[in-house]
Amino acid sequence: MSNKMWGGRFGEGPDRIMEEINASIDYDQRFYAQDIAGSQAHARMLAAQGIISSADAEQIVAGLDGIKADMDVGQFTFSRELEDIHMNVEARLADIIGAAAGRLHTARSRNDQVALDFKLYIRDTIDHLSEQLTAFQLVLIEKAEANADTIMPGYTHLQTAQPVTFGHHCMAYVEMFGRDRGRLADARNRLNESPLGAAALAGTSFPIDRHMTAKALGFDGPTRNSLDSVSDRDFVLETLSAAAITATHLSRLAEEIVIWSNPGFNFIRLTDGFTSGSSIMPQKRNPDAAELVRAKSGRVIGGLTTLLIVMKGLPLAYSKDMQEDKEAAFDALDALSLSLAAMTGMIATLTVNKAEMRAAASRGFATATDLADWLVRALGLPFRKAHHVTGTLVGIAEKKGVDLDALTLAEMQAVEAGITDEVYSVLGVDNSVKSRVSFGGTAPDNVRAACLWWRKELGR
Ligand code: ARG
Repeated sequence: MSNKMWGGRFGEGPDRIMEEINASIDYDQRFYAQDIAGSQAHARMLAAQGIISSADAEQIVAGLDGIKADMDVGQFTFSRELEDIHMNVEARLADIIGAAAGRLHTARSRNDQVALDFKLYIRDTIDHLSEQLTAFQLVLIEKAEANADTIMPGYTHLQTAQPVTFGHHCMAYVEMFGRDRGRLADARNRLNESPLGAAALAGTSFPIDRHMTAKALGFDGPTRNSLDSVSDRDFVLETLSAAAITATHLSRLAEEIVIWSNPGFNFIRLTDGFTSGSSIMPQKRNPDAAELVRAKSGRVIGGLTTLLIVMKGLPLAYSKDMQEDKEAAFDALDALSLSLAAMTGMIATLTVNKAEMRAAASRGFATATDLADWLVRALGLPFRKAHHVTGTLVGIAEKKGVDLDALTLAEMQAVEAGITDEVYSVLGVDNSVKSRVSFGGTAPDNVRAACLWWRKELGR
């Protein structure tokens, strides 16, 4: 049988393999609601402009409502023969309302239709992801508030560097996810122009009102160039770029969770709900959810890469290559949403082993910088000299197997005669973090202030 939609010129139907490679309905059915909303706005505009009758438009809109209701409850049989969501909907509309259905596609093409649907879908997805990011930030802020004074080792090169607070560490991620939300908001702003009415590529001779459909669909206005309108997928690329960065941030935190929950660290304990046991080693509590979040970043980055490669050689305007924009994007954005949900759950429910964190911060000479700074401040040593004296003292402590604050005053004075017992006040981890009051530093009061700032920013 020749195709219902363009059968006029085709005698035969497609080869079976052609149908399989050509059909997108298996995945583009996901934006049926957006497709129907776009068609309804288009039909109303056609009637308002006198291009179709009001009676036809009413039938079209009502028929589409019925189709949507069926699809909402899964009572719709999608057909691969009809290739994609656009033709599945239109064919069904013809079954329900008859001839008037044939007027819906006036002054429109599937090229502007698919660009519209995907934009609406991406816009909805951005809104959902932004909400998830905000909820996640709030969970991190709560952890930070509860741990503004919780001391842990701060690392560089994953080597003990200086003591920080766990609250400060949580707030570092709040900053990252705040920027991620900003990138999504930027993408949303830029994408919010309607391609509907660009038609196949050149616009249309019908007296359509693109401003009207743009407004009805919540866009700031119509796109300005019809060729660009049907061939633009920047909005997906931009969203996937933001998603890839977010997934990368999630993966870094996931890696920290894996490290912190290792018994050698024992900084945190994940709930049973977010761990799994081993079928053979009864002692194990595996941080599977964190590992999967870490791995799913691969899908998200992969989705971005896929679409960049699909787009990079395409001449204007539409090419069927662009049908391959969807699956990778859906997969990537689904993976990100799931990762955000899992990470929010893990962070909300984990318990912090404050004593272990503190003990680790007290090992590894984490206050060596404080000692060097004290030598500069109290004794007026040049920093390089102070660094050298401190290094010598660390060497002595290491040999004795003790931390810096366990060295006697005599031992210290043997290296630098001017040292007084005032030095002990900076050797403790509490004093160290309390002294880091520079803007953005780890001092507990700074952390509390950062939490307040973010709560105000988020309005919660
Ligand atoms: N299913 C197609 C897609 O996803 C819709 C646009 C088809 N346009 C065309 N000229 N064949 O891209």
